[in-house]
Amino acid sequence: MIKIGFETEIDTVRVAEILKEIARDKMGGWFNLPRRYDMGELVRIKEAAQKIQDESEVLVCIGIGGSYLGHRALIEALRPKSGTRIVYAGNSLSRRELEHALKVVGDRDFSINVISKSGTTLEPAIAFRAFRKKLIEKYGEEEAYSRIYATTDRKHGALHDEAVACKYGRFVVPDNIGGRYSVLTAVGLLPLAVAGVDIDKLLEGASDAAETAVEPAAKYATRRFELGSNGYDTEVFASFEPATAYFNEWLKQLYGESEGKAQSGVFPASVIYSTDLHSLGQFMQDGRRNLWETIIDYPTDELNAKVVTAVRRAHIAGGIPVLDIEVSSFDEKGFGELIYFFELSCAISAKLFGVNPFDQPGVEAYKDELARLME
Ligand code: PA5
Repeated sequence: MIKIGFETEIDTVRVAEILKEIARDKMGGWFNLPRRYDMGELVRIKEAAQKIQDESEVLVCIGIGGSYLGHRALIEALRPKSGTRIVYAGNSLSRRELEHALKVVGDRDFSINVISKSGTTLEPAIAFRAFRKKLIEKYGEEEAYSRIYATTDRKHGALHDEAVACKYGRFVVPDNIGGRYSVLTAVGLLPLAVAGVDIDKLLEGASDAAETAVEPAAKYATRRFELGSNGYDTEVFASFEPATAYFNEWLKQLYGESEGKAQSGVFPASVIYSTDLHSLGQFMQDGRRNLWETIIDYPTDELNAKVVTAVRRAHIAGGIPVLDIEVSSFDEKGFGELIYFFELSCAISAKLFGVNPFDQPGVEAYKDELARLME
């Protein structure tokens, strides 16, 4: 169970209203997902994962933003031992990165999981073309298509249409769940299962949190709102476990895209200690006081735990508000709880700031500029 190390008074009436709004929202499907998981879908995911493990040394996971950060965060943190290796592609437009990923796969047997809700995002589309070509060259069209799994919209988009036409394995990003809230759907679960992560335990953690995390999530959201409304415009997520660096990235996307709207929101930043004490430690201790620190307190070894205590004391003395979030276990269950806790607190917090947690109108601006340049 997630515990928080601070007290704050919540407006229970407003929180209850917000929870109702979230549950009713057309993009609020993640809210009840752990309570109503589609077991048939779970079986299909496990079967596909087994097939991929049996025939491939590598699964190339192609996607960007919410279509990739969540599962990468968990795979990097949990370092599963028994699964198939995952190579990531399509999360930038760098030719160098794409060529590197193609080289890493090399002559190995591989399959592809291309993940894009819209089915039109440029970064994954380009990487998919390159890997699909490699797959066809290696196995011929028929076998290549049987090694491609598309996770996309139920009915629309270029990727959906291609997947239907070529009979790729297909998984659905539910209509009512947006990218950054989708890690507990097939978006995250298929690559996680292939990598050897215990997805049953992950969902168990999320479903426990759906029952127990409402109060701590509401308190954390309320405290964020109080700080954010009182001159603290930056939140620094601090972890003392280097393997969770990508979990920080997932958090930054979740909060950044959910809250950064209408000239509002809190800028999400992150550090890994003690590494970053030797780079950003000076600023944290003594720099401009417009930030607060949210320590994600994973169970850790004795020495590292002492560093957590020392940093907490030093930063409080240095005038930084420090919020503690205590993680119950460093395993699938603990991360399942954490994911649901942060999704819920993020949605509540965005609502307190008066913005829609589930859209991302700002992401379109660079896409429009790029489309103009590419004409
Ligand atoms: O959270 C979001 O909605 C975004 O980060 C998307 O996941 C990201 O832009 C990728 O979009 P798509 O899955 O449509 O390719």
